[in-house]
Amino acid sequence: MSQVTKIETIHEIIRNLTSALSTAALYSPDHPRVMEHFARLTDSFRSLQQIAPELLLARVDNELLYQGKPLTKTVNVERLLRYYIKQKIGYIGFSKGFTSVELQQLIKLLLGKASIDSLKQMTSNIQVGSVEASSDEHVMPIASFEKMTDEQKQGIQNQFDKVADQQNLDVEQISSVIAGFIEAFRQNANPFLALVPIRMQDDYTFAHSVDVGILNIAQGMALGIDGQMLHDIGMAGLLHDVGKIFVDREILNKPGKLDDEEFAKIKQHPSRGAQYLMNQEGIPRLALFSAYEHHMRYDLKGYPQPPEGWKLNICSQMTMISDTFDALRTRRTYDDSWNFSRASGLMLQLAGEQLNPDLTINFLRTLANMGEDIESFGDSREQEEIKLEIIGCSCALENPRCG
Ligand SMILES: [Fe+2]
Ligand SMILES: [Fe+2]
Repeated sequence: MSQVTKIETIHEIIRNLTSALSTAALYSPDHPRVMEHFARLTDSFRSLQQIAPELLLARVDNELLYQGKPLTKTVNVERLLRYYIKQKIGYIGFSKGFTSVELQQLIKLLLGKASIDSLKQMTSNIQVGSVEASSDEHVMPIASFEKMTDEQKQGIQNQFDKVADQQNLDVEQISSVIAGFIEAFRQNANPFLALVPIRMQDDYTFAHSVDVGILNIAQGMALGIDGQMLHDIGMAGLLHDVGKIFVDREILNKPGKLDDEEFAKIKQHPSRGAQYLMNQEGIPRLALFSAYEHHMRYDLKGYPQPPEGWKLNICSQMTMISDTFDALRTRRTYDDSWNFSRASGLMLQLAGEQLNPDLTINFLRTLANMGEDIESFGDSREQEEIKLEIIGCSCALENPRCG
């Protein structure tokens, strides 16, 4: 199926969903005409399923996104968006095998006749996430790395030490830190100000891992993802480089270029990390994918070299972006230090080859939206100038050494 046909099919699904909604509002969610729309919707999904077993439609502001890209605003997309906004929905996901009973529950929710919680109880193949997710009272918000308690920092550091000693991870401890960041960002803390300050980057892998976790959460939230999936995306960022703990510190901290032998050792960290995580209990699957795939590059020319036809997990592609951005933000082994506008310009150049272009745009747009705070975590340029450069920078920089 071509990209054009795929998008047309998605529009068809949306058309049938909105028609079902109008009919259900007029008659009832179990009216035979509603069922006819369900049947057509299911047929469209089946043809899409050959290439994508899942369909996730996320809302960001006034846009409906598919795979991070806004869908053209047809009448039906606009109508569906109004239902999203009214019911405070962040995303709707359809997985293979959904039934008309599950679709009926979705219709009831969109019409305001059922809650997200009741839908969650009754459906497993249709997932809905709220924009205003319920907050867990037991989670302490962590507004920034600096505001983490010593206990929390020590807790995460201990986990990294455990990896080095091949002991089992305390997944709950890592999980509570991720939950703390998510809670703080929900309460409007700026994720980009939560990154580990450069002066505190003595243990690079530890600081970098926290940063990639934070940046993954920021990307996920900008895509309207929440709940367990957002949490797992954060965990995937935090754990993506665990394999580096098995690489000699001298190699990791070596200033300047690595020789072939040293680089070959660095290149083992994705498979060593994935292997380690595979043997741990309670590790989200997304974290396994990210550990293994985060250096494969969008064009699959990275490492480990994947077999022909390999499909990168979307979370791994988000991790690649967070990873690249943080490596640029913190690089000290090269002549030029952190400079936000050059980093974003370089990321635009890498989009389409090394990085997923839609997700890169989502990331840079999120940064731009945080504009007024950008200079306080790095570059001292004027905000407007920075925004311009996000959109149009074409500076030529060599590729960074991977993070
Ligand atoms: Fe890495
Ligand atoms: Fe990394």
